[in-house]
Amino acid sequence: MEELLHSPYLSLLLLPLCFLILNFFITRSRKTPKPIPLSPTSLPIIGHLHLLHPPLHQSLHRLTSRYGPIVKLRLGSTPAILVGSADATKELIKTHDQDLADRPIFTAVRHFAYESSGFAFAPYGPYWRFMKKLCMSELLSSRTVDGLAYIRRRELLALLRTLAAKSAAAESIDLSKELIRMTTSVIAGMTTGTASAGDSEAARKAVKGVAEIIGSVNLGDFIGFLSIFDLQGLRKRMKEVRDNFDALMERIMASKEASRKSCGVGVDGNKDLLDILLDAAEDREMEIQLTTENIKSFILDVFTAGSDSSAATTEWALAELINHPEQLKKAREEIDNTVGKDRLIDESDIQNLIYLQAVVKETLRLHPAAPMAMRKATKEIKHGEFELRKGNTIIFNVYSVNRDPKYWDEPLEFRPSRFLEDGELSYKGMHFHYLPFGSGRRMCPGVTLAVQVITVALAALIQCFEWGGKEKLDMSEGPGMVILRAKPFVCFPKTRLHPLPPELLGP
Ligand code: HEM
Repeated sequence: MEELLHSPYLSLLLLPLCFLILNFFITRSRKTPKPIPLSPTSLPIIGHLHLLHPPLHQSLHRLTSRYGPIVKLRLGSTPAILVGSADATKELIKTHDQDLADRPIFTAVRHFAYESSGFAFAPYGPYWRFMKKLCMSELLSSRTVDGLAYIRRRELLALLRTLAAKSAAAESIDLSKELIRMTTSVIAGMTTGTASAGDSEAARKAVKGVAEIIGSVNLGDFIGFLSIFDLQGLRKRMKEVRDNFDALMERIMASKEASRKSCGVGVDGNKDLLDILLDAAEDREMEIQLTTENIKSFILDVFTAGSDSSAATTEWALAELINHPEQLKKAREEIDNTVGKDRLIDESDIQNLIYLQAVVKETLRLHPAAPMAMRKATKEIKHGEFELRKGNTIIFNVYSVNRDPKYWDEPLEFRPSRFLEDGELSYKGMHFHYLPFGSGRRMCPGVTLAVQVITVALAALIQCFEWGGKEKLDMSEGPGMVILRAKPFVCFPKTRLHPLPPELLGP
């Protein structure tokens, strides 16, 4: 035996054997290549739905952390591709933005968008292009947004006065609710100057209803036969919410028509969004004739896309600063040095508040209010590792992209100064590791407005009130389509400026 082990014949025998084994593995791996992108094990009928739990973006983040930046999913019978890295997003958007410019239409969306007359979910085509142009040139242009600054000022003052009154009475307040009230009133006021406090409240309820329904996974959307049964009772809720919103819109539009007849269009030459939409609808020269349904659903889009998201971001920013007292101190010093203590911060001050701008950017990186950009392929796409059929859903998980470790040092750390080091990083969707407002054709048209509202509200809260305590705030995220803090921000506000700036003392 000893002899055999050392015999040259053994090497001659082993060599071909090794070759055979190696060859077996090489051909086997060629025959059954590792599927790229990977896909977790799916279950019959439901596919991967069992892997998705609220908050949805966190479930999706766990999937890309485990299976790689691109994951193939089956949501019931709907095939979907999940994208969770900056590089993969860049690959797709840079080359195929136009082919990914549709959005998946779920039952709720169809319902709330008046059978797809809306803008945010309109198929990529002539109507969407018309509305996009109207958004950029008029509805949400800097000119319109600047012209309606007086509405934002009015609503900010109302918020600050409520907080000051609570401070004087040493009473607590739910700041989360008050911020949502402020942003909804801003959108209501900008939509139509004639909106009453009751209208804003009705709009807030409608937004809450829409967010709850869209934020829950409707099984009927993914498992065809279940759609007949409405097991979750969502269809009934959808009808209720839409009927209430429709009644609100009818009221608003009637009062608008009346004020246009008696006082003419716009206040001091500044048209509100409804004026712009009605002017476009009445203009027979326009390439698209807007219908009443188009107008109503655009307004609902703006309410749902713009109110909770801006309120949530303001709250996250303040909560992060409270948990990072050094950064709060820095932001406050900048405000005091730039604005002083005798007058209230104004939108025109923002350009000089460089650190505060960085705070908002960092907040939107870590807590992107709209954490997922959903798209649908308009045609077949074959690109590197991607293979998409027409109609496939693509989920860009902005939440994952914004914390991609390849591009961000200590991605989970809240550190606004990183945006001072890289001043180039903007909201424009050109840097694919920072996409809080999405990217490409369907990126958010409300960026300018959102950033104005958030930054001024945050600055005013820091300027006028004391914040912080011994305990750190809980930063858990709640469920829903907008990332809100899980726990309401209940606090005892304490005014900081004595006397308060004169603007706050008036009625
Ligand atoms: C913090 C605030 C906000 C955030 C984080 C945010 C984020 C986003 C994101 C990620 C998208 C999807 C982009 C994509 O698919 O690439 C989007 C779309 C959209 N947003 Fe915003 N948004 C905010 C505020 C607003 C405001 C204030 C408005 C309007 C007043 C608005 C109106 C819209 C509309 C209409 C769309 C759909 C655009 C389309 O499909 O073409 N958003 N937003």
